[in-house]
Amino acid sequence: MQVPLLDLKKQFARLEDEIMPAITGVCRMQACCLGPAVAKFEEEIADYCHCKHAIGVSSGSDAIIAALMALGIGPGDEVIIPSFTFVATSGAVARVGATPVFADIEACTFNISPVEIEAKITEKTKAIIPVHLFGQIANMEPIMDIARKNNIYVIEDAAQSIGAARNGIKAGNFGDCGCFSFYPTKNLGAFGDGGLITTNDDNLAKMIRMVRNHGQNATYQYQVIGGNFRLDGIQGAVLGVKLRYLSSWHEARRENAAAYSRALAGVGDITIPHIDDVNYSIFNQYTIRSEKRDELKAHLQENQIGCGVYYPEPLHTQQCFKHLGLKEDDLPVTAKACREVLSLPISPELEEDQRDFVIQKIKDFYA
Ligand SMILES: Cc1ncc(COP(=O)(O)O)c(C=O)c1O
Repeated sequence: MQVPLLDLKKQFARLEDEIMPAITGVCRMQACCLGPAVAKFEEEIADYCHCKHAIGVSSGSDAIIAALMALGIGPGDEVIIPSFTFVATSGAVARVGATPVFADIEACTFNISPVEIEAKITEKTKAIIPVHLFGQIANMEPIMDIARKNNIYVIEDAAQSIGAARNGIKAGNFGDCGCFSFYPTKNLGAFGDGGLITTNDDNLAKMIRMVRNHGQNATYQYQVIGGNFRLDGIQGAVLGVKLRYLSSWHEARRENAAAYSRALAGVGDITIPHIDDVNYSIFNQYTIRSEKRDELKAHLQENQIGCGVYYPEPLHTQQCFKHLGLKEDDLPVTAKACREVLSLPISPELEEDQRDFVIQKIKDFYA
């Protein structure tokens, strides 16, 4: 049996009859950049996220860049971020000319540690970007306390966590704004690149709308420096269709996660994912830990089971951040996670017999 890590062809086959007419509608209108399909999607997704404003942008990476630009963050500023995340979080900070300051994570959730954030605050700190990794919201209450106490911005990197909640509050409502990705592997994936910024601040929303379209507030009137961070009409149409299914997809992922956790707790040296009691995780990834990660991964691959290592190397030791002079052991919890994590197939398209096969093959590995 083959078990892909993700099966987007299967998802498309199920939705083709709804998606193709939506795409055709955009083609007939030729409303290619932003336009009515994006405006409609923005309204629906704002409602879904419980946010006042939702602004469609060109990618999750651009969402973070546009948010930083809209908040006026640039050279001379420091931004505290985790090192255990996708590179885009750090790249965005560097792209606006600010300095990424890497903080370690909590071992159990993989999310940035508030204690480690506090230790990194200086008079140059302008923002914190907590990443809600793998579908679980970071420990936001202490993070917001630290931000308020020090008068610094909070940009949530919720690229992997659309619809996740903590104490009933959805991702994108804790900080000044939230940044989301519609990269195809996300729980809500476009047919290409796409992203979103949410905020409940009217002035910030106005600024983000300008920044996403070259700083324009009216045709050929440029108020601030912006960029081309517009979401395509076709992506808005596709996302609008997929949004109708998002809650049921989250539930299917959660059911898969619960089945894995029941079956894998106590097997070999595996640590199953820890979800805080107050969190509703949307399980963009189901990530276990094992000291035998590389052998286990090879065993699963030999059995045609897709699995992934997110992330194999910390950001703070990457060549592009060499100038920061950090060593692997400067963030020991991150370094250990990079050696041990392994993500299993969790998508809503995963069939029960495929899930059972994954569980059986993991048990065989430790037998
Ligand atoms: C945590 C995180 N931040 C940012 C991004 C960037 O999103 P995109 O790929 O849409 O640019 C991603 C997506 O891959 C991500 O996982």
